[in-house]
Amino acid sequence: MKYYLTTPIYYVNAAPHIGHAYTTIVADLYKRYKRMQGFDAVLTTGSDEHGVNVERSAQRAGKSPREFCDAVAAEFERQWQMLGLQIDHFQRTTSPQHARVVQNLFERCRQNGYIYKGSYTGQYCIFDNLYVNEAKPGDPCPDCGRPTETITEENFFFKLSAFQEKLLDLYETQPDFIQPETRRNEVISFVKAGLTDLSVTRTNIKWGIPVVGESPHVFYVWFDALTTYLSAVEGEGLWPADLHLIGKEIVRFHAVYWPAFLMAAGLELPKRIFAHGWLLFENDKMSKSRGNIVRSEPIQKVMGADALRYFLLREIVFGQDGSFSYDALIGRYNSDLANGLGNLASRTLTMINQYRKGEIPPGGDGGNIAPLAEQTIAAVQNSFDKFEFSKGLEAVWGLISAVDKFIVAMAPWKLSHSKEEAAQRQLNATLYTAAEALRVVTALLYPVLPESTRKIWSQLGMKEPIESLRYDGLQWGGLLAGQEIGEISGVFPRIELKIAVDKMRELEAEVTAAQLVLLGKKPEPAPEEPAKIPIDDFLKVDLRVGLVLTAQPVKNSNKLMHMTVDIGEPKPRTIVAGIAEAYTAADLIGRKVVIVANLQPRKLKGIESNGMIVAASVGDGKPVLAGFHEDIPVGAHLK
Ligand code: MSP
Repeated sequence: MKYYLTTPIYYVNAAPHIGHAYTTIVADLYKRYKRMQGFDAVLTTGSDEHGVNVERSAQRAGKSPREFCDAVAAEFERQWQMLGLQIDHFQRTTSPQHARVVQNLFERCRQNGYIYKGSYTGQYCIFDNLYVNEAKPGDPCPDCGRPTETITEENFFFKLSAFQEKLLDLYETQPDFIQPETRRNEVISFVKAGLTDLSVTRTNIKWGIPVVGESPHVFYVWFDALTTYLSAVEGEGLWPADLHLIGKEIVRFHAVYWPAFLMAAGLELPKRIFAHGWLLFENDKMSKSRGNIVRSEPIQKVMGADALRYFLLREIVFGQDGSFSYDALIGRYNSDLANGLGNLASRTLTMINQYRKGEIPPGGDGGNIAPLAEQTIAAVQNSFDKFEFSKGLEAVWGLISAVDKFIVAMAPWKLSHSKEEAAQRQLNATLYTAAEALRVVTALLYPVLPESTRKIWSQLGMKEPIESLRYDGLQWGGLLAGQEIGEISGVFPRIELKIAVDKMRELEAEVTAAQLVLLGKKPEPAPEEPAKIPIDDFLKVDLRVGLVLTAQPVKNSNKLMHMTVDIGEPKPRTIVAGIAEAYTAADLIGRKVVIVANLQPRKLKGIESNGMIVAASVGDGKPVLAGFHEDIPVGAHLK
């Protein structure tokens, strides 16, 4: 039986980071999981390469769009290889096969009467390739906040409005079509509010898939991008997809547009869309401007890909937003992997070496561990079926700690001193139980920790490759007495926090610099020291002591305060300053302040301001007014 799953295809105008890795790692985990359940699982990912901003980025990098895309797509592929992910199809939207499938899909929709030509005038965000239908000129993009651009063009439209009922029906009859529930509700209310037709082509860019016979129309990015899921497996009999894994910000495109396109074309719909949450860095959104984007490569190099996988799956409830931090990553690693799993493996295997010359002894009935292991096998599948990865992992760690306690209670080191047969039999049973539990734990963790479980597996002396394991063959008792264990070596050495973090940050800087070169972006210049100025320049600034006479907040502004200030001239000055969030009118009236008196006048919210009030800027820009400790006459000059 087949199981076809996908990740989003990533834009090539950003370099891969831990957010992209998150989805792709989960997809890899799920593929391995489905394989263990006996499915022939196939995973597609890829790169989204068309659009204005790719053209622009290429230009900036001094490359043709094609060369630019080749380089960035290769970088994504390299990342996935480095992380050891089992990708079956890396589909690029610039591949000829993809173009054909997009054109066919369009033709089918057109023949079925769901495409028409119309004129589009509206706001468009070039950074997100987003037509912001509800926006007015000058409005910011709802995604990135940058100003939208007004465009008018002849477009082909897709009759999305014809699908409102059909979509609602789909969500109703297949309640697990969109998961988790919060996202499902969001989509339902979006569709209930009414659907407007969708522009699916554009004429104002060259870097896109041409609409056959309709030059200069090229496909609009979502019609192009979503079709990757089909084009990647064309002719392989894998459609419909069983699962689209995505981030929550692209739910609408996947749960509304995509099924509508497919219905219009008369094609089968994907079975399920799961939208996970956002990965934040220390609770902040990762972004270029904040300079807090985390890359996977340094983590992989210093701690191994499994450490990252474990952290992402254990620490974050899949579906919800979660925070990444190096401290938490290393904390989890040391407590759960080094002390938990790693310790259980080395302790068990070492005892078998010591007390039984490296041979698995015949077992007893497994005591209370055997039923717990059976329950854990069921619990993991139950949780993973529901995408509750952290819960599944908790169950496995429950088993690990039960086995630890069992070993302590049985105290094999004491039993080993006794020559009595009963003690020796008990020692056998204890060692067998621990080793058999380790086998089960290792098998259960394989989808999450493929690299390290492979090592433990061979240390246990298992002959069957771990990749070919199935849940069916996992039952208690599978470990054979007499089996020789392999050579023991530590799988999760303890990691020193500071050393590891320093190393990762150092590598992070290197990787980021290399990626900037790849994307043709200039590294941020180091902040320069403020230039020194001659005293004459300073003396040009007329600084004076002023007394605030009146103050009132400016209407329709949170920040601005409208004041009149006596600076020793016949008439008080009108000054508008952005201090209303920090000071009330009452705080200001009667207060002595410092004013820049010879500044060119400036209109703020229609009021002409004749001067500037001097304040320090602290924290996020909170103003703190300059003032004096001694009494000082109004109008006094500062120099
Ligand atoms: N090209 C579109 C998707 C087209 S799918 C037919 C796109 N690309 S993207 O490069 O912006 O990738 C978005 C996806 O990357 C998210 O949906 C999510 O899977 C992953 N993530 C990127 N940053 C992320 C976080 N900070 N946190 C979690 N996942 C994130 O949108």
